[in-house]
Amino acid sequence: MAITRRHLLLGTVAASAVGVLTACSEERGGTTAPADPTTGAASPAEGTETTGATEAPAEDVLIGIAMPTKSLERWNRDGAHLEALLKERGYRTSLQYADNKQDQQNNQLQNMINDGAKVLVIASIDGTALGPVLQQAKDAGTSVIAYDRLINGSEHVDYYATFDNYKVGELQGQYILDHKDDFKNEDGSINLEPFAGSPDDNNAKFFFAGAWDKVSPLVESGEFTVPSGKAPASEDEWTNIGIPAWKSDTAQAEMENRLNSFYADGKKVNIVLSPNDSLALGIQQALDGAGYTPGEDWPLVTGQDADLANVKNMLQDKQAMTVWKDTRKLGDQVAAMIVQVIDGDEVEVNDTETYDNGVKVVPTYLLEPEVVTKDAVEEKLVESEFYSASDLGL
Ligand code: BGC
Repeated sequence: MAITRRHLLLGTVAASAVGVLTACSEERGGTTAPADPTTGAASPAEGTETTGATEAPAEDVLIGIAMPTKSLERWNRDGAHLEALLKERGYRTSLQYADNKQDQQNNQLQNMINDGAKVLVIASIDGTALGPVLQQAKDAGTSVIAYDRLINGSEHVDYYATFDNYKVGELQGQYILDHKDDFKNEDGSINLEPFAGSPDDNNAKFFFAGAWDKVSPLVESGEFTVPSGKAPASEDEWTNIGIPAWKSDTAQAEMENRLNSFYADGKKVNIVLSPNDSLALGIQQALDGAGYTPGEDWPLVTGQDADLANVKNMLQDKQAMTVWKDTRKLGDQVAAMIVQVIDGDEVEVNDTETYDNGVKVVPTYLLEPEVVTKDAVEEKLVESEFYSASDLGL
């Protein structure tokens, strides 16, 4: 099925998250799942079952946090932040990384369930391959929150918290439209090379759809040329240009291959649509290797995550923008949801329509991503203490 704008369009928009455990729904502009009048506990939102309040003292409550890999900067930040918040609240935590292998993550989840975890927070690897372990969670009365990436094909996903993934792609696409003229060739032509994320990551299709809805009309009109021919014929074919496991090395090899095969005659690439920073890093290395020079013929390269190496690249004009998702806000929101689940309170969500996992629409809390460019690094990333000035060599 094609991903359409309407399909992905979101209802309410999250106000920025404030202090985690004190935030209330009025402040956030969110909605909550209605309380069950008989028990006072959170009642199912859109078919979601809750396990009710936990009487145990906080130190007896175990929360399992399953992250995909340590090899990408953001998941280390995500895991550490959420774990610290939960420990502050007095809970026990089990934080596990799975080397990008879903089997390994499923084993970790099984162990967490066996250890009596009350809530599992899962940033999955292949969001279609968790069915049996989620059934075990359900049988054990363990609640499940999908973190950043939706888990598909299972009814045992209670909540989802993420940034608006389609919007991430739209921001990248809109940036390209707004700045394309600064990067065109002398004859006015513009060469574009599009990339997409890991085919098994549910987010990747949203990123691509958001960007391609903006950019593809210019490919169709002929304003943009794709010399490699790697423009998907339809949005559904985005996986053909997907980079498995979001690997920088693979993106670098792919970019080198495109440059060697299609630009050997002196043609220049003007714009590279990269869905995230790990791909942008590999693309940057290929461009360096091919002799591109910042401020002269370096193309517009997009990204996402505000990873440290990429922010440094932005400061050196090797990446034009990144879409920043302040992972602290996501952690704050998920910690608040966990407390609500444990205490049997209403769980705050602000989207009960968009995220259909094939079996149910998962009640979701959505956060807003934002663009960061070189000029805004100080104001957005340093002043908010996402990075220190010295991290960035400023
Ligand atoms: C996340 C991105 C991240 C990518 C690779 C996606 O699911 O939403 O922030 O860049 O995975 O880890």
